[in-house]
Amino acid sequence: MKAIIPTGGMGTRMRPLTFTANKHLIPVANKPLILYAIETVADTGIKEIALTYNPGGLDIIKNFLGDGSKWGVKFTYILQENPRGGLSNIFQVCEDFIGGDNFLMHLGDNIFTGGIQNLYDHFMKKKPHGLVGLVHHPENTRLGVPYFDEEGHLVKYVEKPENPPHDYAVPGLYFFDNIIFKCFKGKDKIVPSARGEMEIASAYQWLIDHKYQVDTLEIEGAWLDPGKVQDWLEANLFLLDLNTKTKINSNLDKTVRIHGRVTIGKNCNITNSHLKGPLNIGDNVTITNSTVGPFTSVYHNCMIIDSTITDSVLMESVIIDKVRKNIENSIIGPNTNISQSDHSEHYCELLVSELSKISL
Ligand code: DAU
Repeated sequence: MKAIIPTGGMGTRMRPLTFTANKHLIPVANKPLILYAIETVADTGIKEIALTYNPGGLDIIKNFLGDGSKWGVKFTYILQENPRGGLSNIFQVCEDFIGGDNFLMHLGDNIFTGGIQNLYDHFMKKKPHGLVGLVHHPENTRLGVPYFDEEGHLVKYVEKPENPPHDYAVPGLYFFDNIIFKCFKGKDKIVPSARGEMEIASAYQWLIDHKYQVDTLEIEGAWLDPGKVQDWLEANLFLLDLNTKTKINSNLDKTVRIHGRVTIGKNCNITNSHLKGPLNIGDNVTITNSTVGPFTSVYHNCMIIDSTITDSVLMESVIIDKVRKNIENSIIGPNTNISQSDHSEHYCELLVSELSKISL
């Protein structure tokens, strides 16, 4: 069994953050998004993982993730030429890598908090030709939706339907045996949809129409799909609440008050401040005369001085300096500097790039 994790796509729904960063490397609860997928796949025992990338996207991903040895697996980097090729196009370009084996594809922007072991075990034991995970989701019009017959067998799989008959949806986790590569060949091969993508739904529909067994199974635990900026903030809060443990790796003096579960990285310099959990602080962070948390993540190398921050995400090397208003429900991109102006009653000074959102 092998696995594929895509790291490409356009990241349009995460703009402006994705103008300068690959979405899969943006942190959720202080951990780059793609690490959730890698850890979940590695936990099943799979050893060979293909990471697909789009033109221009290899260096940043490879430099960050390396050869996989950190997780006890082997990474193979595979080019997907067209960033809008579609989810079926992703495994189509991995056919040589799969080499006759079975495989699963775990989207690099999905998080399964309860792992995927129940689906993996079902697939290995029952040996269907395809298996899809199922979740309940109130907004399944923006997702893949399964349709069942009266006995509960999957008969149709539609991408983003207008009027779904129930709240079931298919998250970004797909299992196939090697038969699936036949869907790209021959007279009845699948073709791009109206939006120009080789849809994952078309591949499963091909299996169903050719009477191959496709099973469905509900996932265990929560499913997070931080596709849009607001969902990202909500995923951050959810994971901080779920995973934060009290772990303090820097020396703190008596001027620091801590309430709740707080994780603090190495070489932090924190003085005269109130830290409220769940809160995750990375390495080399300076916090002075401030209140930080709850439900906040502060990535490496940030500096917070004379300020109050709650329910927010600070990415790498952010500086918040003497801001008089509380900062709440905010996502602040890397290397941003926010400070109080001496003339704030009269005007403010901004250097803001395209599609940013500021509420003063
Ligand atoms: O998140 C679950 C949903 O993911 C499913 O319910 C849908 O059925 C499925 O189509 C997909 O929908 P999205 O609209 O969220 O897909 P998105 O275009 O955002 O791409 C998902 C991931 O795959 C993301 O990490 C980017 C990557 N990708 C996507 C395409 C289309 C690629 O690497 N190459 C591609 O060609």
